[in-house]
Amino acid sequence: MKRAILVLSVTFIALVILLLPDVLFADPRSQTVEFSCGTNPEHNFSVFTRNFATNMDTILGQVQTSGFGIAVTGSGPDAHYGLAQCYGDLSLVDCVLCFSQGRTILPQCYPGTSGRIYLDGCFMRGENYSFFQEYTGPNDHAICGNITRNDSAFQESAKRAISQAVSAVPNNNGYARARVAVTQAANSPTYVLANCWRSINASSCRACLENASASISRCLPSSEGRALNTGCFMRYSDINFFNPIPGNGSSRVFCILCYAQARTVIPQCYPWNGGKTYLDGCFMRLENYSFFQEYTGPNNHAVYGNITRNDPAFQGSARRAISRAVSDAPNNNGYARAKVIVSRAVNDSVYVLANCWRTLSTSYCRACLENASTTISGCLPSSEGRALNTGCHEVLG
Ligand SMILES: *[C@@H]1O[C@H](CO)[C@@H](O)[C@H](O)[C@H]1NC(C)=O
Ligand SMILES: *[C@@H]1O[C@H](CO)[C@@H](O)[C@H](O)[C@H]1NC(C)=O
Ligand SMILES: *[C@@H]1O[C@H](CO)[C@@H](O)[C@H](O)[C@H]1NC(C)=O
Ligand SMILES: *[C@@H]1O[C@H](CO)[C@@H](O)[C@H](O)[C@H]1NC(C)=O
Ligand SMILES: *[C@@H]1O[C@H](CO)[C@@H](O)[C@H](O)[C@H]1NC(C)=O
Ligand SMILES: *[C@@H]1O[C@H](CO)[C@@H](O)[C@H](O)[C@H]1NC(C)=O
Ligand SMILES: *[C@@H]1O[C@H](CO)[C@@H](O)[C@H](O)[C@H]1NC(C)=O
Ligand SMILES: *[C@@H]1O[C@H](CO)[C@@H](O)[C@H](O)[C@H]1NC(C)=O
Ligand SMILES: *[C@@H]1O[C@H](CO)[C@@H](O)[C@H](O)[C@H]1NC(C)=O
Ligand SMILES: *[C@@H]1O[C@H](CO)[C@@H](O)[C@H](O)[C@H]1NC(C)=O
Ligand SMILES: *[C@@H]1O[C@H](CO)[C@@H](O)[C@H](O)[C@H]1NC(C)=O
Repeated sequence: MKRAILVLSVTFIALVILLLPDVLFADPRSQTVEFSCGTNPEHNFSVFTRNFATNMDTILGQVQTSGFGIAVTGSGPDAHYGLAQCYGDLSLVDCVLCFSQGRTILPQCYPGTSGRIYLDGCFMRGENYSFFQEYTGPNDHAICGNITRNDSAFQESAKRAISQAVSAVPNNNGYARARVAVTQAANSPTYVLANCWRSINASSCRACLENASASISRCLPSSEGRALNTGCFMRYSDINFFNPIPGNGSSRVFCILCYAQARTVIPQCYPWNGGKTYLDGCFMRLENYSFFQEYTGPNNHAVYGNITRNDPAFQGSARRAISRAVSDAPNNNGYARAKVIVSRAVNDSVYVLANCWRTLSTSYCRACLENASTTISGCLPSSEGRALNTGCHEVLG
């Protein structure tokens, strides 16, 4: 049952990325390099899953603003200690995408409580004890690419790039990248990325990178190598895998962030195999059957604001805005918004947004929004309301 959700969500992210025409974000590099689980079983299913989910939400909040997160939830044998580290060249949007990919894979360790995942853009680990200072361990190793670059110039430049990155990291917030040209003009350069987790100190970081650089240097003459260490990650390649310096946000970026947020919420439905979540900027639903044409259901309902506006001018304007949005949306790609002025004198207006899922036909969209507008009108005289329907979403505010 859990598998169904996880497989679906991986397919979803691939689809979303393929469907986006303008690439305003770079590459979250969310391919898994290696995923491993510990063998400690949980002691109490409900305690462990609650601790895990809460901890991941806390870490997500930190990752969204700083690219790094560390948190502890609960105590005793089912406590959850978690860490997530994005590599320095990921934008915060890409970081959240990489995190949410790892977040959906880690629960596969269940009933084991501990796991680590190295993705190409970020690292995540969970345990039932404090591992935050650890920087070395028996499983530290390198993974080498399978293409050989026989030219000695490449090997020289790779070695120089690795050592440049290692010496730059401790003075640069635990992160560095280096690009070193191969001396013979026609050849492409070598690219190196090195990143320590922010929870370890400078001397642990240096020790970790020295071990990592020794182990990936043994990958040569392979064209690529990655070191997966307890406290750091390092990669060299003859292909430029760096992300450009992040640009500015846009509505599409907010859509992606909303999507990533939804994707981390849905796995909390486990052990149920379906779920839906209404966020203020998006809707997401997963099932083990085709629900794409559904537009009504027994759970259609409204959520009210808690402030009351008794003035009849507001209520009249709200009803006009609702009816305008509902009549525009079905013929406008399922989406419309309306603004109606309540009072020009005090610059007071009411706003309505109506949105059908794009899988619905025009007539199902209309039927869904008509139901939603009746429900949402029932929120009045509350100053705010949201209708959460099977096939559409309507917001008044
Ligand atoms: C799990 O923990 C909950 C809350 O502490 C408790 O009510 C429940 O009985 C425990 N279950 C088992 C199997 O120990
Ligand atoms: C972690 O879990 C294992 C086995 O499930 C248990 O033996 C160990 O005591 C736990 N660690 C802590 C710090 O509670
Ligand atoms: C750095 O952290 C390691 C591991 O916790 C510790 O052994 C070492 O004393 C620390 N070094 C400094 C300079 O704080
Ligand atoms: C090399 O690795 C790539 C990616 O892991 C794989 O697709 C390819 O088949 C491998 N080639 C050989 C010759 O093993
Ligand atoms: C690699 O280079 C060595 C000498 O530099 C040469 O003898 C060998 O044939 C080359 N191998 C390949 C696969 O090109
Ligand atoms: C890196 O550290 C691990 C764990 O201590 C050790 O097994 C390995 O031999 C070290 N590798 C190198 C290249 O020093
Ligand atoms: C991002 O936005 C800020 C303020 O809106 C602007 O000053 C800056 O030039 C923009 N940067 C890019 C890369 O577009
Ligand atoms: C979906 O899962 C439920 C519960 O596990 C099962 O009863 C149902 O047959 C599944 N539906 C499909 C289409 O596989
Ligand atoms: C909206 O649809 C639901 C589900 O069919 C139904 O229970 C509800 O009465 C409808 N509400 C209105 C206001 O028509
Ligand atoms: C109204 O809702 C807001 C946000 O949900 C909350 O912060 C506030 O305390 C609530 N006010 C009352 C009077 O319930
Ligand atoms: C009314 O409010 C809007 C948005 O809050 C603002 O842009 C506009 O300048 C205001 N107009 C007046 C006349 O205060």
